Amino acid sequence: MKFETPSGDNPIDRMTVVGRAHTRIDGPLKTTGTAPYAYEHHREIANPAYGYVVGAAIGKGRISAIDLAQAKAAPGVVAIVTADTAGKLGKGKFNTAKLLGGPEIDHYHQAIAIVVAETFEQARAAAALIRIDYARADGRFDLDEALKTAPLTGGSSDEGSASPGIDRVGHFEQAFAAAPVKLDAHYSTPDQSHAMMEPFASIASWRGDALTVWTSNQMIDWGRGDLARTLGIPKDKVRLVSPYVGGGFGGKLFLRSDAVLAALGARAAGRPVKLALQRPLIANNTTHRPATRQHIRIGATKDGTITAIAHDSGSGDQPGGSPETAVNQTKKLYAGANRMISMHLAEIDLPEGNAMRAPGEAPGLMALEIAMDEMAEKLGIDPIAFRIKNDTQVDPEKPERTYSERQLVRCLEDGAKRFGWSRRNAKPAQVRDGRWLVGMGVAAAFRDHINMASGARVRLGKGGVVTVETDMTDIGTGSYTIIAQTAAEMMGVPVDAVVVKLGDSDFPVSAGSGGQFGAANATAGVYAACVKLREAVAQRLGFNSADTMFEGGKVRSGNRSADLAQAANAGELVAEDKIEYGKLDKTYQLSTFGAHFVEVGVDAFTGVTRVRRMLAVCAAGRILNPQTARSQVIGAMTMGVGGALMEELTVDTRFGFFVNHDLAGYEVPVHADIPHQEVVFLEEADDKANPMKAKGVGELGLCGVGAAVANAVYNATGVRIRDYPMTLDKHL
Ligand code: MOS
Repeated sequence: MKFETPSGDNPIDRMTVVGRAHTRIDGPLKTTGTAPYAYEHHREIANPAYGYVVGAAIGKGRISAIDLAQAKAAPGVVAIVTADTAGKLGKGKFNTAKLLGGPEIDHYHQAIAIVVAETFEQARAAAALIRIDYARADGRFDLDEALKTAPLTGGSSDEGSASPGIDRVGHFEQAFAAAPVKLDAHYSTPDQSHAMMEPFASIASWRGDALTVWTSNQMIDWGRGDLARTLGIPKDKVRLVSPYVGGGFGGKLFLRSDAVLAALGARAAGRPVKLALQRPLIANNTTHRPATRQHIRIGATKDGTITAIAHDSGSGDQPGGSPETAVNQTKKLYAGANRMISMHLAEIDLPEGNAMRAPGEAPGLMALEIAMDEMAEKLGIDPIAFRIKNDTQVDPEKPERTYSERQLVRCLEDGAKRFGWSRRNAKPAQVRDGRWLVGMGVAAAFRDHINMASGARVRLGKGGVVTVETDMTDIGTGSYTIIAQTAAEMMGVPVDAVVVKLGDSDFPVSAGSGGQFGAANATAGVYAACVKLREAVAQRLGFNSADTMFEGGKVRSGNRSADLAQAANAGELVAEDKIEYGKLDKTYQLSTFGAHFVEVGVDAFTGVTRVRRMLAVCAAGRILNPQTARSQVIGAMTMGVGGALMEELTVDTRFGFFVNHDLAGYEVPVHADIPHQEVVFLEEADDKANPMKAKGVGELGLCGVGAAVANAVYNATGVRIRDYPMTLDKHL
């Protein structure tokens, strides 16, 4: 089904199942510990061996000698694979550094060997017996140093590929120079780790030249393609299975070393190999969110009209890598006749940077929305009024494009009422509650919605059971549930009558999970397949498909009626289709908007910051399931608090690695850090987006939170911190 014009009325609009709260249909499997995660496919695998990955102990250089003799002779060892014995490996589309390094080392903890043994403990013990001599080279590990000579770069959208340069509208320099009120400020965000609960893990099993890998991956088809490319085998010889993902956060968008090394280990061992990356390896072996150094300039007239806005973001990555696109939102969020947007990318030798939890906008808004708060203060205008004054209903860079839906103003106004914004004292450091200095902050939320083709197969079987198959993943987001709701709505059956099967490359290729594009596109793909199944049902029953209704387990056309189950009496009906998109997203800008409100207390004596309450108001198209969507948003808000107050990978700029590379040293919020969260979804059905009239919402919940916390901290204390995370030492 090609989606080319705004979608009219369709069966989804009945909203008898879709749009309603529904607990997760996979919940019982998870709470009973029976949902099989990557390392747990015991039933499918007989007699596995265990893999242990050895990571490079230098940040840059080469292996001068490697001695495996002792390790090979250790008890239980079945095989050891290094770059010397792996055979020729290709390069995947989505990874920058090699997933099996050696003799050249690109980054610290780059995988250089897999040891396969009868037990995990034997593999680990043998790995410690491998003797490696390194010739260490000088690496570029200091981002600030590297940015001094970093060139401009493009690639400022999720689709990538913009040409290097500066996006200009009007004449920024003149307008900024002439502006009566100006802000010129620098902000920084640190490297961050996904820190997902489930580690990167894979079980690989060969049958002849065909490979099956049970793994933990957000994007099945990308992973399948890259595994085939890396191993140099045809894609149709690779099957990837990932029915449950215990958190990905962008780290599992791509093939990583666990899948490649499990496959190489299994081939060498001649039997299946189970491999989980040990936790202390993950932060440096896999990807992270790159640190940014951002420079924002805003000029305005005295009444608060922005006349000039410039945003530059600098970040670093491995050679051939990409920038953190922290300028994305600044292109679209506020009006302003004179604009200048740019990014710089430094080559550095730290581990590969890549997507993490709303890449681009999350760190970008951490800077922009502090800048807006600072500017409002200079102008003596309420920060909400300042944002509303500079709202735009057209893309500021391309005024011929309007937003499909844009309710930023309502998000801000509605949130202000609910949060009690009128009680905020605009003068900082005025409100005390015992030893706590109390403050409120606000920030706008913005995240693009991305169209992605997405396919599904639906079956109508015995008893009227509807089965959906798609390679879509559920990364803890609720995909199973909203897909079941979609099929139930389309086929007129209860959610219980739908079976959802996900995360298998044997199923039709879906959008996958990332960039908050999963829910809307994957359900639209299921919608498309259900449209075909409805036609097949009508045809088999001899009904006129144009006026056939599906409701309450019945199929009706004119005065004829039948049980849906009846259509499967003569055998299962199968339909497959995908949603594809025309150019509607070129005519309209598809984005999601919100407003975040935060109240903090800062201990007047120690500088410890505690969040007291949070509110998010989101406008993001139709909300397919307010319960799972709320869970997404409160999770995202929690990540925002992490980014604001604690999360930071500490770089050792001498040796080139992240020092705090485990869950003990990398601090994230726990329940006690988040006392109260409220989420409001504004009524919206975006008919320009897809037949579901839905857009992404998960990552929107994170975008802006960091700055809302920062602005609340400023309001509480009068100390303006522009360098995240806002740890207590920064109050001094
Ligand atoms: Mo997301 S960081 O695109 O999984």
